[in-house]
Amino acid sequence: MYYKIKSHIFIQKTVFYVLFGTLLTLYLVGCKLQSSDTTPYQITKEVNGGRAGVSTAHPLATKVGIDILKKGGNAADAAIAVQFALAVCYPGAGNIGGGGFLLYRDTKGQVVSLDFREKAPKAATTDMYLDSLQNPITDASFNGALAAGVPGSVDGMVKVFEKLSKLKNWQILIQPAVELAEKGFPITQGEADNLNEHQSLFEKYNKHQTAFHKKNWQKGDLLIQPQLANTLKHILSKGRDGFYKGEVADQLILEMKRGGGIISKNDLESYQSVWRSPLSGNYRGYKIYSMGPPSSGGVALLQMLQMTESYSLNQMEYHSAAHVHLMAEVERRSFADRAYYLGDPDFVDIPLSFLLDSSYLSKRMSGFNPRMASISDSITHGKPESEETTHFSIVDSEGNAASVTTTLNGSYGALTVVEGAGFFLNNEMDDFSIKPGFPNMYGLVGGEANKIEPEKRMLSSMTPTIITKNDSLFMVVGTPGGSTIITSVFQVIVNVIDFKMSLFDAVNETRFHHQWKPDQIYTENGCLQPNVKMVLESLGHKIKEREPIGRVEAILVDRNKLLTVVADPRGDDDAQGY
Ligand code: GLY
Repeated sequence: MYYKIKSHIFIQKTVFYVLFGTLLTLYLVGCKLQSSDTTPYQITKEVNGGRAGVSTAHPLATKVGIDILKKGGNAADAAIAVQFALAVCYPGAGNIGGGGFLLYRDTKGQVVSLDFREKAPKAATTDMYLDSLQNPITDASFNGALAAGVPGSVDGMVKVFEKLSKLKNWQILIQPAVELAEKGFPITQGEADNLNEHQSLFEKYNKHQTAFHKKNWQKGDLLIQPQLANTLKHILSKGRDGFYKGEVADQLILEMKRGGGIISKNDLESYQSVWRSPLSGNYRGYKIYSMGPPSSGGVALLQMLQMTESYSLNQMEYHSAAHVHLMAEVERRSFADRAYYLGDPDFVDIPLSFLLDSSYLSKRMSGFNPRMASISDSITHGKPESEETTHFSIVDSEGNAASVTTTLNGSYGALTVVEGAGFFLNNEMDDFSIKPGFPNMYGLVGGEANKIEPEKRMLSSMTPTIITKNDSLFMVVGTPGGSTIITSVFQVIVNVIDFKMSLFDAVNETRFHHQWKPDQIYTENGCLQPNVKMVLESLGHKIKEREPIGRVEAILVDRNKLLTVVADPRGDDDAQGY
C-alpha cells in the first residue's frame, strides 16, 4: 500500500513535472509558426526565450546562421554565412553582386560599422544617364550592365571576417552557400511568383540562359545555380581575390562589354569597403546606434526620433490622426534634409553635428501645426514599388549583435546575370541623383550632394540599427524597403518604446510613410480607419494606399538576456533561436 501510494505520488509528480517542463519550454522558447501552405519550409515568425537568435528573409539562410552559431561562431561569423546563403536562396536581394552596411556591437559594448556600399565606376560621369536634351534615361540607371555600381559585398564580408570572426575559418562560412547553390533548394510560392513575374525582363536583359529562366516556376521547384556555386568556390578558396580578380572578375568584365557597362578591372581590384564611425543618439533613455553616410538611414532615424521626443506619443491613440500627423510631419522634415545635405562623406562635407543638433531639430518642429499639414512642393514621382533590399539581425549566445542590411537595389538588381558567374548585377547607380530634382526609383529626389562622380558611393536609406538601454543590448532591427526603410525602423522603435507593444506586434503593425516629396502619406492597407483618414485629409494631407511596406527582422533582449526573435509576417522571413 505504502509502495502503491508512493508510486502513485511518483507518477503524479512525474506527470506534473513533464507537463510543467513542457509548458515552461513552450513559454521560454515559444514559437509562432506560420502555416506551411505557401512554402515548402516551416516558417517561424517569433521565437522567445533563447540566448542566441537569427532572423532573415529566408528560412534556409536563418538555418545557416543558427548552424554557424551552434558550431561556436559569433554573430559576425553567422552574418558572413547568412550573407552568402542569401545570395543563393534569396536571389532578388541577397547578393554577392551588390553591397550594404553592417553594424556590430560586441560584448564589451563597442559598436563598429562597415560600409560595403557599391561605388560608381571610375568612368562614371555626372550626366551619364541623361540624353542630349538633358532628359533622364531611366532604363539605363534601372536595368542592365550600365546600372551597376562596383560590388562591395564580398570585400565587406572579408573585412568583417578579418576583424570580427571568432571561428577564423572562412571555408566553413562559405560552404553552406556553395552547397545550396550546387544541390539546389525548393523555392517558396513567393519566390516562384517573383521569378515568374520577371521572366520577360530576364529575357530582355540576358542574351544567355540563366538559372532563373523557366516558363512556369512552381512552389517546390528546385532552384539549382551551378555557375553561382562555381563563383562561390572561387571566393571560398581565394577570398577577396576569388571575386575581384581572376576568372570571376573576367566574367564580370565580359558582361560589361556585352551589356554596355563601364566597370573596369581596375575598379574591381581597387574596391575597398570602409570601417566608419557609427552614429549614435538618445531617445527616451535608450541609446540608438545606426549607420552614418553614405547611408542616410542613421541621420534620418536619429533626426526623426529627436524631433518626436518632446511629444507624448504614448498619450496618443495608436494610428490616430494626431499620431500619424505628427510622425508624417517629422518624416517630411527629415527627408527634406536628406535630399539637400546627404551624399558620400568621402566627396561632400555633411554638416552632421548641425543636422543632429537638438536646438536645430526643435526649431525644425517649430513650424509644426497639429491642425494643419505642411506643404512640400509638388513633384511627379517615380516608381515606388521595387524595393528589394534585405536585412538580417543576429545575436549570439555571448551577446554580440550584428545588424546587416544589404541590397541589389531593385528586385534582382539590374536583372542581368553575369554569364558564367551566375550572380545578378546590382542597379545601385539609380540611388544617385541622376539629375538634381528628378525622382529616382523610390520617388526620392536628391541634389548636388548625391550627384554621380567617379568612385563615389551613392546615397542609401539602409538603416541597420542597434539599441541599448543602460549599456545593455536591447534591440537589433532593420528592414528593406528603399526610402521606407527609415520610416519603418522609426515606427517599429516607437511601437516598442512609446506604445509598449510586444516586438511581434510592433513588427506586424501596419505602417505609413512620408518622404517629403511626393507630398503624400503612403499607407499599408488597413492602416488608417476611415475617420482617421478623413481627419488627416482635412488637415491637408494626401493619402495613398500602397503595397506592403518593409520586411523588418528584429531581436529584443530582456533584462535576463533572453531574446525575442521576430521575422516580419509580410514575407517568407524566418526567425530561429535557441
Ligand atoms: N538601394 C536602396 C538603398 O540603398 O537605400
